[in-house]
Amino acid sequence: MEILMNQSSNIEQSFTPIEVKLESGKDYFWCTCGRSKSQPFCDGTHKITDFTPEKFSLTENKTVWLCTCKKTNNAPFCDGTHRKL
Ligand code: FES
Repeated sequence: MEILMNQSSNIEQSFTPIEVKLESGKDYFWCTCGRSKSQPFCDGTHKITDFTPEKFSLTENKTVWLCTCKKTNNAPFCDGTHRKL
């Protein structure tokens, strides 16, 4: 996995999606709580919340935009909802 657009993260920062290059067949864990310091991926910080990460994988190597606002209707992918927040 390669993060193409570097963005530090915490829940107070912008909700801009993050572009990542992902590998086919590999399991990824998308942060749903918004507290991970490794956005858009889970770093275990959710353990102090009721949230759990969302496991996903792709069937082909692909560059995608992953949601950081956590309001997307197409998790873990950005659907543009952050523009309305
Ligand atoms: S750190 Fe956010 S879901 Fe794990």
